[in-house]
Amino acid sequence: MPETVAAGRTWLLSGPTSSYALHVTEDDTLVNLHWGPRIAPADAEALAAAPPEAYWPFESPLDGREEYPVEGGPRFVRPALSVRDDVRRGTEWRFEGHTVAGDGELRLRFRDGGLAVTLHYRMRDDVVERWATLANEGGTPLELLRADSATWTLPHREGWRLSQLHGRWAAESRLVRSPLTYGEKVIGSRRGHTGHQHLPWVALDTDATEESGEVYGCALGWSGSWRIAVAQLPDARVQVTGGAGHDDSGLLRLAPGGSFTTPVFAGLWTDAGHGGASRAWHAYQRAYVIPDADRDRPVLFNSWEATTFDISEEQQLALARRAAAMGVELFVVDDGWFGARTSDRAGLGDWTPNPDRFPSGLRPLADRVHDFGMRFGIWVEPEMVNPDSDLYRAHPDWVQYQTGRTRTELRNQLVLNLAREDVQEYLWQRLDALLSDAPIDYVKWDFNRCFTDAGWPGDPYPQRLWVDHVHALYALLDRLRAAHPHVAFESCSGGGGRIDLGMLSRTDQVWTSDNTDPLDRLAIQHGFSQLHPARVMAAWVTDSPNTQLNGRVSTLRFRFVSAMAGVLGVGGDLTAWSEEELAEAAGWVALYKEIRPVVQHGDLYRLRPPGLAQGGPSAVQYVRGDETVVLAWLEAQRYGEPVPAVRLRGLDPTAAYECRETGEIHRGAVLLHHGLPTGLRGDLDAAVVRLRRV
Ligand code: GLA
Repeated sequence: MPETVAAGRTWLLSGPTSSYALHVTEDDTLVNLHWGPRIAPADAEALAAAPPEAYWPFESPLDGREEYPVEGGPRFVRPALSVRDDVRRGTEWRFEGHTVAGDGELRLRFRDGGLAVTLHYRMRDDVVERWATLANEGGTPLELLRADSATWTLPHREGWRLSQLHGRWAAESRLVRSPLTYGEKVIGSRRGHTGHQHLPWVALDTDATEESGEVYGCALGWSGSWRIAVAQLPDARVQVTGGAGHDDSGLLRLAPGGSFTTPVFAGLWTDAGHGGASRAWHAYQRAYVIPDADRDRPVLFNSWEATTFDISEEQQLALARRAAAMGVELFVVDDGWFGARTSDRAGLGDWTPNPDRFPSGLRPLADRVHDFGMRFGIWVEPEMVNPDSDLYRAHPDWVQYQTGRTRTELRNQLVLNLAREDVQEYLWQRLDALLSDAPIDYVKWDFNRCFTDAGWPGDPYPQRLWVDHVHALYALLDRLRAAHPHVAFESCSGGGGRIDLGMLSRTDQVWTSDNTDPLDRLAIQHGFSQLHPARVMAAWVTDSPNTQLNGRVSTLRFRFVSAMAGVLGVGGDLTAWSEEELAEAAGWVALYKEIRPVVQHGDLYRLRPPGLAQGGPSAVQYVRGDETVVLAWLEAQRYGEPVPAVRLRGLDPTAAYECRETGEIHRGAVLLHHGLPTGLRGDLDAAVVRLRRV
C-alpha cells in the first residue's frame, strides 16, 4: 500500500528493495522525490521539505523534476501531455486529491477546466506501473495531441549509459549500450505495430555490470506506434518519457464525456546489475503479465519452414506422425491452409479451409493430430487482406486508405481498418466460428506488414485509427480468449515485430524471430532476455544447411541447445531427416522436457554473452530451487586454446552439486569462483549441464 505522508501531498510506494516517492507542491506542481533503494516516510518528508533550487530566467524551475510535464508555462522539455481545444492549447491544472484503490493503486486527480487528468501508480514487487487517464468532463471537444503514459526522473549521476534493443526483420532485439549525451534520444515505431526495430524498453546505468550496480529500466505495454524519449537536460538531469503514438500530429479527439487511458509504462530500479534487472522483469511478467505463466509451454512443431505455401492434409499428416514420434506436444499448421492461399498473393481475409487442400475442413487433420497425442494449432493473420480475396472483393472500403492515393501493397497485402466496427464484428464472427468448427488448441496470430496509408475516408478524425486499431486488436483477443479459454495464442509479426507487455498480457508466447539460424539466435535471445523471460520465447530447430537465411551448416546438437534456451519448437522438414537424426532429435526433446520447468520458470543468469569478441563460450544458467541448468555454446575455438570454464551464479557456496550428466560432485564455492568445465571444442559446439544440490 502506498504510504501517504505530509498532509496528503507526499506519497511513498515501496517494493521489497525499492521505493518511489512523489509530492504535490503548494502550487500544485507534481514532482518526483525519489526512485531508488527503499526509504522511510521520514526520508520522503525530508526530500519534500528541501528548498527549491535557484534558477536563471532562461532556465526552468520545473524541467527535469516533474512527474508528468504538461505543455505551457515555464517548461521547455518535451511535454508528456499536449491538449488543445478550439481556443487554446496547454494545461494549467489544479490538484484535486488522491485515492488508493484496493490493490494499492494510487490515483492522483488534477483538473484544468473540463479536462480531468488522473495519474495512476501501482507497485508490483519492485516494478512501478504508471499510466494516465484523460477525461473530457466539459462541454466542448478536446484534442489530445500527445498523452504519454509517464515521465520517469532519474537521480543526478555522472556518465549515464543507455541500453536499447534494436533490430530489423530476422535480426531483432540486439543489445546496444552507448553513453548518453546532452539532448534527446528517441526510439519508437511509426509503423502501427511495435516493430522489429526497437523493443519498447530502455535501461540506464552508469557503471553496472551483469551482476552488480544500479540499473533503471522502463518498458511500455503498447502494440501500436509508440515513442520513448530519453533526455539529458542542460543541467544533466535525465528523464524518460513514453507512450502510445509516434508523433505530434494528433492522437485522439475527446468528445464531451470521452476519455483515453494510456497504456502502462512500467519502471524498475535495482542495484543488482543488468542480470538482476532482467530477473526482476521476468518475475514481474510471470507474476502479473503473462496469462497462466505457471503452466509449462509445450514443445511444438511448426510447418512453415518445412512446407511454406505448398501444403496438403496428407503431407501435414506425414510431418505430424514424425513430430509425434519425436515427442512433440503441439502440431501447428502455418500459412497456406485457407482460402486461395497457395502463395502470398491471395487468400488473406478468407478464413475458411481451402477446399482443394482440406476437403472436409480442418477437423480430420486436427482429429488425427489429437490421436497422435498432440495438440493442434493453426496460423492466422486476421488484420490483413490480399486484394485477391473474397473479403476484399466484397469490401474494398474495409482497408486503411486515403481517397485518391495509392493503396500501398507490402507482401501483396493491405491492412484492414480495425477501428471500424463492421470489420471488428466480421473478424470476431469468422475467428469464433473457426475455433468452434474444429478442435483447435493453439493460434499463431501474425501481422506481416506495417501501416502505410493509415487513412479512413469519411471519418471526422481519421488519426484515431492508429490507437483504435490496437484497442480493437486487444478487444478481439480478449473476447476470443474468454470464449475459447482452452486455446493458447502466439504473437507473431514476421518474427518479433510485435513483442511488448501489452501483447504479452494476452498471448501465451511470442515468435522471437524469423531467423532460426542457431548462431544468430544466441545474440537475439541475449537481447530478448534483457526484458522478457524464456517462458514466452519460442525457438525452433530447423534444417541444416539453414534454408531461410544463410545456408549455415550446424549440428542437431548445436541447433537444439540453442533453441532449448526458450520454448523449444521444431520447424524442419522432418520428412527429409534421417532415422538417426529423428532418433537424436527425440533424445533432445526428452532432455528438454526434463529441464523445461527450470528453463521456463527459473531465474536466468547470463554467464557469458554471445560473440567471438568475448573469446570463449557463451552460456546461460537457470536456477529453480535445488535444480540448475547450464546451456553453453562455443562459436569457434581459436588457436587451439583451451576453452575456459564457465563461472556459475546463484548457487549456495556451502552446498555441493551433483552433475546429472557425469555423476561428478561439484562444490558450490568452486563452481562460483573457478567455474564449470564445459568440454566444448571446435566450431559450433554446445552443451547442456544439469546440476542438482545434494
Ligand atoms: C511470417 C512469420 C512466419 C510464417 C510466415 C507465413 O513471416 O513470421 O513464421 O508464419 O509469416 O506467411
